[in-house]
Amino acid sequence: MNASVLLLPGDGIGPEVTSAAASVLAAVGSRFGHSFETPTAAIGGDALKKTGHALPAETLAAARAANAILLGAVGDPAFERSEPDRRPEAGLLAIRRELGLFANLRPAKVWQGLEDGGPLKPHVLAGTDLLVVRELTGGLYYGEPRGFDDEHSAAINTLRYTRGEIERIARVAFEAARGRRRRVTSIDKANVLEVSRLWRDTVIAVGREYPDVALDHMYVDACAMKLALAPASFDVILTENLFGDILSDEAGAIVGSLGLLPSASLGEGPSLFEPVHGSAPDIAGKGIANPIGAIASVAMLLDHGLGLRDEARAVETAIVRTLNAGLRTQDIAVQKKAATTSEMAAAIRDHVLDYRVVAAIRP
Ligand code: IPM
Ligand code: MN
Repeated sequence: MNASVLLLPGDGIGPEVTSAAASVLAAVGSRFGHSFETPTAAIGGDALKKTGHALPAETLAAARAANAILLGAVGDPAFERSEPDRRPEAGLLAIRRELGLFANLRPAKVWQGLEDGGPLKPHVLAGTDLLVVRELTGGLYYGEPRGFDDEHSAAINTLRYTRGEIERIARVAFEAARGRRRRVTSIDKANVLEVSRLWRDTVIAVGREYPDVALDHMYVDACAMKLALAPASFDVILTENLFGDILSDEAGAIVGSLGLLPSASLGEGPSLFEPVHGSAPDIAGKGIANPIGAIASVAMLLDHGLGLRDEARAVETAIVRTLNAGLRTQDIAVQKKAATTSEMAAAIRDHVLDYRVVAAIRP
């Protein structure tokens, strides 16, 4: 296959983990005989510094022309006091909106070899394998009106969802559940918010189209607690934009490190793949960031973005083999000597190059 994967390295550790991930993508290309082109474009603080825009028109055009997009991270403390539309994050929010990437999939599971890597007792974490389906182009992130009053003494954001927006993300969650353990937990705050009432009623209605999928509902506060107490009890967590942002960070912490979590943002056009972690300015440029979130995002890109299942499995298997061999970046290390970003990436790359497709045994 010939495919063009646009790289958007962004800010902080973004460029480091993106080049680690791109090296794994190149290994997949040579192992499986694909030709992946990887043009690069600017986004976030990097783009603001170069062009004055967090999402330059050339970047958006390149994104529309790509088969899939791999993003590193955006966010830079240099812009902390800037107006919202002059912040690095505006670039990410704009590309999500422009490409209609309404469905954000954030899987979190205990990796083989990392069962004791998180803050939870191993027996509590055991069996955790969940998928957060986060609505990504609505809610408080985009609602109008928004802004400050003239005196800067009050500010407003708007939480608004339409039935149509809820229906389409609910369908993504139910479809995903069919390929998993057939259970959807819809998260809301229906005891307080009208939007959440609409959310719950709409999810129940869509759920009737999926009688084979068990549906339950949970308030977001209770979900935050249950994630810490019994993470293995979840299969698919369906939720709106802000709740999904918060709960997916929690899911990342629970499985050992936010640095491990990949994500896929899907819409009608090219899809975007990015690690869930941010730009981590405190460790940027040191070469110690965990590249697994970005590399696992390459696996999701191969699967969801390019339809290359075996190739996706090869990357996942390579990650597991690397972890099983004891390699750990500082965020998941117990021993003193942690691996660098490039040592980790090189090990994963070698396992991809060595990968043999084992024919599936069908009953
Ligand atoms: C994420 C990030 C973004 C979000 C920021 C950088 C805008 O935290 O992808 O989870 O809030 O969606
Ligand atoms: Mn986040």
